Amino acid sequence: MVLASARRTFDFVVAANRLPVDRVVDDDGTTRWQASPGGLVTAMDSVMQGRRAAWVGWAGVPDEDVRPFDRDGVRLHPVVLTAEEIQDYYEGFSNETLWPLYHDVIVPPRYRRRWWAAYREVNARFAECVAQVAARGAVVWIHDYQLQLVPSMLRELRPDLRIGWFNHIPFPPVELFGQLPWRDSVLRGLLGADFLGFQRRNDAANFARACQQLLGAHTSGDVVSWVGDEDEPGSGERRVRMAAVPISIDFTTVDELARTPGVRRRAQEIRASLGNPRTVLLGIDRLDYTKGIRHRLRAISEMFADGDIATPEVTLLQVATPSRERVSAYRELRSQVDGQVGRINGDHSTIGASAVHYLHHSYPKEEMAALFLAADVLLVTPLRDGMNLVAKEYVASRWDGGGALVLSEFTGAAHELTQAFQCNPHDIVGLKQTIVAAMSEDAASRRKRMLGMRRRVRTHDVHAWARRYLAALEAAPDKPDRG
Ligand code: F6P
Repeated sequence: MVLASARRTFDFVVAANRLPVDRVVDDDGTTRWQASPGGLVTAMDSVMQGRRAAWVGWAGVPDEDVRPFDRDGVRLHPVVLTAEEIQDYYEGFSNETLWPLYHDVIVPPRYRRRWWAAYREVNARFAECVAQVAARGAVVWIHDYQLQLVPSMLRELRPDLRIGWFNHIPFPPVELFGQLPWRDSVLRGLLGADFLGFQRRNDAANFARACQQLLGAHTSGDVVSWVGDEDEPGSGERRVRMAAVPISIDFTTVDELARTPGVRRRAQEIRASLGNPRTVLLGIDRLDYTKGIRHRLRAISEMFADGDIATPEVTLLQVATPSRERVSAYRELRSQVDGQVGRINGDHSTIGASAVHYLHHSYPKEEMAALFLAADVLLVTPLRDGMNLVAKEYVASRWDGGGALVLSEFTGAAHELTQAFQCNPHDIVGLKQTIVAAMSEDAASRRKRMLGMRRRVRTHDVHAWARRYLAALEAAPDKPDRG
């Protein structure tokens, strides 16, 4: 057992691939810290406040050996990754193997032994770092698919800890998961936790079935029981609880931001700069093949061609946040989306009125709130998505009860936002009909839907999520070995 050393230790430790801040190197060589993208940071913000907490993660750049430092009362512990490890562990195994495998193999996953070796190596480094900073009996919350081996590696080092893991993305059915050459090791890695949280009940059920079929584990209710091999980390009999605990957003903060005069004014400005169209359709996504952007553009293109919509009355504002640009599937997607937008605009724009306004940028939260307020219909059409927090942020921004949400049934959010206009993005005819329905519904019915969705997100916000998660972790069946 690695005992927490004389250095400062913490009762609550988060481990995630990224720190909540990235080290950014500017063109002139100066470096600074900037908030990392993504919902995880916002989600954990509220959980960490008021605790003796530390966060273990990567600083977002290669070979950056930075001393631990404090930010907003949380101790940040950077884990160093070399340029080669970023290629093999992050871009390779995490984002070219696991990401497509866990998202219904929308693009073919690549299985490379070198990437797997780097994944194991980096997971071991994370486990060692957590073992060093966690106080005796601390609660450790590990996040996501990049760190699936950390639970059992950490348990081996520190059996006194309470260990939870939460998967922000889907967990695939065993028929797909079974492709992974290292499937048993991944399951064993996860079974080192006391509690495993998933976005949907189906994800938890997929995991349970994989454990039964591939490891011969026994499941009863929400508990997996399993006896590990003696020479594997996490050996001996273990009982691990699993459940769906869908993540959410900070409803109040988003709602309050959207009510501020600055954001409301900016929403009007955005509509005015689009030429005050009757209908603004909006898409806001990371530029990822899971988000169904190509399917959405195909539907929009046909709607313009069929005369269902026309400029200047209707326009699509598509924001695509740059993401994982060194991975080839993402580069290919970018050139396809660029081409589609170019064709739609060439065919259907008129002077002074673009069919599609396409922005390949990321925006601060104030601008996002203004975009949400400016939109008549938000199009969220992923082919597979663990949750989709953009859909929830849109709902939280619409304090005016306005706006409609078109939402893919393949998102975790669809299980909660049942009043959305739900669609199957693969069915282009159905998708077009759903967009038309969302555009043309009368204001009173739209408002009723929106208020229903707002109630759901308000009562199931990120604070409720964290409380539920931590209570489930606390009540996990096996007691830690405190010696
Ligand atoms: O869970 C999905 C996720 O890994 C988020 O944690 C993150 O914000 C997003 O995808 C973007 O990922 P990356 O860290 O690879 O830019």
